[in-house]
Amino acid sequence: MFNRISMIGLGYIGLPTATLFAAREKQVIGVDLSQRAVDTINAGRIHIVEPELDMLVRAAVQQGYLRATTTPEPADAFLIAVPTPFTDGHKPDLSYIQAAAHSIAPVLQAGNLVVLESTSPVGTTEQLATWLAEARPDLRFPQQAGDDADIQVAYCPERVLPGKVVHELVANDRVIGGLTRKASEQAVALYRIFVEGACIITNARTAELCKLTENSARDVSIAFANELSMICERLEIDVWELIALANRHPRINILQPSAGVGGHCIAVDPWFIVDSCPEQARLIRTAREVNDHKPQWVIDQIKLAIADALSAQPGKTMADIQVACLGLAFKPQA
Ligand SMILES: NC(=O)c1ccc[n+]([C@@H]2O[C@H](COP(=O)([O-])OP(=O)(O)OC[C@H]3O[C@@H](n4cnc5c(N)ncnc54)[C@H](O)[C@@H]3O)[C@@H](O)[C@H]2O)c1
Repeated sequence: MFNRISMIGLGYIGLPTATLFAAREKQVIGVDLSQRAVDTINAGRIHIVEPELDMLVRAAVQQGYLRATTTPEPADAFLIAVPTPFTDGHKPDLSYIQAAAHSIAPVLQAGNLVVLESTSPVGTTEQLATWLAEARPDLRFPQQAGDDADIQVAYCPERVLPGKVVHELVANDRVIGGLTRKASEQAVALYRIFVEGACIITNARTAELCKLTENSARDVSIAFANELSMICERLEIDVWELIALANRHPRINILQPSAGVGGHCIAVDPWFIVDSCPEQARLIRTAREVNDHKPQWVIDQIKLAIADALSAQPGKTMADIQVACLGLAFKPQA
């Protein structure tokens, strides 16, 4: 059913995903706007940092299963993994998805499946189907024809850990939300090509919110630890001792405070929920604000410590101060 698969966006998510389809001997056409990325991949090399991926890409390209291009070509299934940043005022920027939709629309054929993988606000998969339908009035889409549509459209978010992407793409469970039942079933058949985890069907809106919920849950938990550290500083209590003691409760597991949150997903995705439901998402917004404020709080603490050190040692200047910065990685080595 899916012999030619096209991946739109060959970054940290798209390239490993495309490569795993190619490793299962599917013809994969990778599409990216970046000529440098396309040239690097076609030379059998990678333009991103991810363990194991270079060997897999080299083999897939050499064996003729993976090819990159800047222009979409016809395929049986299209997956979209383009960026979804936010704009001023923390509004989701869907322009990359819209551009991807416009680029694949001319090559869509009846029987195709389109899967959105980009982390997206609720309703984006429906919006994607609308953009495709506007560009291709000659084809029927799920919002018009349901299961009988010429083009099926689904959402399937990604939840991999950078540094372990190749392993987790295969092993993790996938949440798959089609705009129709048929879209979900087709998407399951697509991911089953390489996914060994469970492929669980829901609807597109639930799948979209599921991804945002996962990262918001992390953000809220981290914000709790970060807020505790600021409370403890004010009350002159050692936050590390406090959390270690509290975690001796059999049902408490407080995270460790730090200088904010790491990575590029957790600091972005919760805003997509806040933007959709500003009146309801009060805790999620506050967690974002607590975590966003934490780096400045840490800087202020460092300035205070420097001022204390200078006043305790007359004659010393700023040039004599050494600041140790520990833990520059945002995730521990596996
Ligand atoms: N990186 C992660 O760990 C991770 C995890 C889960 C979800 N996500 C989500 O997956 C999506 C992709 O993230 P990523 O980390 O792979 O991004 P990335 O920046 O590494 O890659 C995106 C690629 O898309 C290309 N691109 C942009 N517009 C395009 C278009 N119209 N046509 C073709 N290519 C286009 C870019 O040139 C880039 O190479 C985002 O929504 C992100 O939030 C990322």
